[in-house]
Amino acid sequence: MSLLLGVFVLILLGLDSAKASGVVTFSRQPQNQTVTQGNAVRLGCAVMGLSEPDIVWRKDQSKVYSTDQMFLSLGELHWETFYSVRSVQQQDGGRYWCEVESEGQTYSSEPAWITVEGVPHFSLVPQDVAVVPGEAFNLSCAAVGPPDPVEVLWWLGGEQVGGPEPSPSTLHITGVNSSVKFYCEAKNTRGISVSRTGTVHIKVLPSAPEDLQVLSLEENNITVSWSPGFSGYSPLHSCSVQVSGPPWVRIPSPVQVLVPPHRVSVSGLRSHSDYSLRVSCWNQLGPSPHSDWINFTTPESVPMLAPRNLTFDLSDSQLILRWVALDEDELQGKLQAYKVQWSLGSETQEPLLFKDSSAVLSGPGRFLNASVQVSACTSVGCGPWSRPIQILPKPVSLLVPRRHLWSGVLLGLLGASALGLMVAIGAHRRRKDSPFGSAFKPVGSDSLVSFSAARSFNRTEPPEASLDSLGVSAELKAKLQDVLIPERQLSLGHVLGKGEFGSVREAVLKTEDSSQKVAVKVLKNDITTSCDIEQCLKEAAYMKDFSHRNVIQLIGVSLHRRPGQRLPVPMVILPFMKHGDLHTFLLLSRLGENPFNLELQTLVCFMLDVARGMEYLSNKNIIHRDLAARNCMLDEDLRVCVADFGLSKRIYSGDYYRQGSVSKLPVKWIALESLSDNLYTSQSDVWAFGVTMWEVMTRGQTPYPGVENSEIYEYLIKGERLKRPPDCRPDM
Ligand SMILES: *[C@@H]1O[C@H](CO)[C@@H](O)[C@H](O)[C@H]1NC(C)=O
Ligand SMILES: *[C@@H]1O[C@H](CO)[C@@H](O)[C@H](O)[C@H]1NC(C)=O
Ligand SMILES: *[C@@H]1O[C@H](CO)[C@@H](O)[C@H](O)[C@H]1NC(C)=O
Ligand SMILES: *[C@@H]1O[C@H](CO)[C@@H](O)[C@H](O)[C@H]1NC(C)=O
Ligand SMILES: *[C@@H]1O[C@H](CO)[C@@H](O)[C@H](O)[C@H]1NC(C)=O
Ligand SMILES: *[C@@H]1O[C@H](CO)[C@@H](O)[C@H](O)[C@H]1NC(C)=O
Ligand SMILES: *[C@@H]1O[C@H](CO)[C@@H](O)[C@H](O)[C@H]1NC(C)=O
Repeated sequence: MSLLLGVFVLILLGLDSAKASGVVTFSRQPQNQTVTQGNAVRLGCAVMGLSEPDIVWRKDQSKVYSTDQMFLSLGELHWETFYSVRSVQQQDGGRYWCEVESEGQTYSSEPAWITVEGVPHFSLVPQDVAVVPGEAFNLSCAAVGPPDPVEVLWWLGGEQVGGPEPSPSTLHITGVNSSVKFYCEAKNTRGISVSRTGTVHIKVLPSAPEDLQVLSLEENNITVSWSPGFSGYSPLHSCSVQVSGPPWVRIPSPVQVLVPPHRVSVSGLRSHSDYSLRVSCWNQLGPSPHSDWINFTTPESVPMLAPRNLTFDLSDSQLILRWVALDEDELQGKLQAYKVQWSLGSETQEPLLFKDSSAVLSGPGRFLNASVQVSACTSVGCGPWSRPIQILPKPVSLLVPRRHLWSGVLLGLLGASALGLMVAIGAHRRRKDSPFGSAFKPVGSDSLVSFSAARSFNRTEPPEASLDSLGVSAELKAKLQDVLIPERQLSLGHVLGKGEFGSVREAVLKTEDSSQKVAVKVLKNDITTSCDIEQCLKEAAYMKDFSHRNVIQLIGVSLHRRPGQRLPVPMVILPFMKHGDLHTFLLLSRLGENPFNLELQTLVCFMLDVARGMEYLSNKNIIHRDLAARNCMLDEDLRVCVADFGLSKRIYSGDYYRQGSVSKLPVKWIALESLSDNLYTSQSDVWAFGVTMWEVMTRGQTPYPGVENSEIYEYLIKGERLKRPPDCRPDM
């Protein structure tokens, strides 16, 4: 009892307080043990001279533990412990000793060996091999005891080969013609072990590479990758890439690359050409079949040379330029146009574009002494300029240039400014024969292009209306910089609608790098005074910053200069709305050529859009003053944007409408207090919103059907209001 207790206490205390008292000795040393695999083994160790020693076991340098290790007290300063294994395995064999530590010193017992006897243990397991048919090769197998000695026996293809040999054994085979399995047997006095079964593989040609992919494709080179096919039991060492192309291009010779990685770049390709490419890979025996072809087309590049032999022929009526077309090789792409540039003195004119390798230009007079050069263009860009030639008169008299010469230049210029457009659209639509040679017109020759082109030659037009000419303050001027759009960037198109206060036109707004379809509101002349313009610009500067999905975004304001007038007319530039105004859209749904059904849900969406837009405006302290379906716009996605706010403030306030006829006012949308007291507030906008909702529900009917504009005031004052439309649900 007391012994067990002592053991427990020692274990619990962690045995860390060994104290030396005199000499430390081992009263029992572990002894050599030889056991058969699966049996139990026990090593003992006893230490004298320490009060509470921690005796550890080591095997081949590392600490080992046995789960049931106990420390037994044999007397004062005398302790014993054991290392035991219940079922010995091969790996338990080895050199063991016990060890104690005291005051920084380590005391070790004598070592003892545990020797585990059993069937042989393979120290060299035979491995798979791959050979070419008939090739000699060696197989190796090694097994150890104890107990030794061990003998090895070979089996190949189900038959024993030769007799027992001492381990380790190497089997020499002079050659096989087909794949075969093999293993070795190892035998000692305890029994027989059988190794894993290995295979002699016969090396074959590899399979074709797969998944051939283009990684990058440039004008003159391509990089491809692929997955190797089955190696044929022999590592792939290289792959070769074969390129084919049309007969007129130089085909790069096959490229041989070491693998891995399975990737290669092929250079020396010609731009703008169709090629095919395939790969095959090699192992020791030879090449695999080829992969499938992949087809690719190298991108175009700019022409490498300028057109040659530029000549001119100057007559009384025209200037003819000729040059020698580049051939395919030199073009490096698909010819889009030849660009002709001429300069007079130090002034370089806009380039002209021509489809053919000649140009006929009218008005030869203006080319006198001009320096002309030509370059070829592909869709990627234009090549180098030719050497310039000087247009010198023939030694005969010249006629005064005729009047229509300008149009010749104009056409050329049209082409020039539309180059980007044309290149994108492709060449086939481009050619147009004109009386002036093969100058080509821009595709979809829109007013934008003709406008800017006309300007280029109209040097006598009045200077553009500028802020300076209006006398606005410097502070406002700075603010307006990004609101004010130069008139020349706008080309007005047809009228989209006319109202009491001006007209709305389709237009194209062209900036340096973009062109955009817009709607332009041109205010009527008679409602603008100098003061109005300044006010209008101020409001525009303020509104430019408005951004809400249900409020139309002001793009800018432009000033239209009228000949003979001191003051320009302001033009308000707004995004072009595909579906026009809400009122027209509602009417079309009922009365158009192709009526369509507007779901109640859609109508509610319209109302919500208007409400959201109006909420935003009122948060910005903007009173709309003219909310109505006709002043709401519908974009491509049928989203409603509130429009026509604010800028029209002046029109509705003060004297203007008192002078005019009241019947011109949209009285059916105007709140009662606005009619009586000219008082406009957010609340009067809410009134108009109610009328607008009524318009939406009735799909564009005129409010108060049967009531004349002139009767509205009396009608409302009596307490009458808009009636629920007949087909409107009460909850709506
Ligand atoms: C224990 O075995 C080892 C190796 O087998 C041997 O060298 C050593 O002499 C043996 N010790 C004793 C005491 O037999
Ligand atoms: C096989 O082994 C023998 C000697 O053990 C050696 O001479 C011979 O080159 C080996 N053959 C092969 C194919 O490795
Ligand atoms: C392998 O085949 C060749 C001819 O195909 C023959 O000469 C040779 O003896 C064969 N070798 C073995 C080991 O069967
Ligand atoms: C491929 O061509 C491009 C331009 O043509 C060049 O910048 C690049 O270095 C080339 N790459 C190789 C691998 O030759
Ligand atoms: C590659 O082009 C050839 C003809 O040039 C065609 O027969 C083949 O089907 C094409 N291969 C692929 C993968 O498009
Ligand atoms: C270009 O001019 C040179 C001499 O100036 C002439 O030899 C050559 O044949 C001309 N090339 C063509 C294609 O006309
Ligand atoms: C062309 O240059 C010559 C002299 O180089 C000059 O006499 C002539 O007036 C110039 N003609 C024109 C139209 O500029």
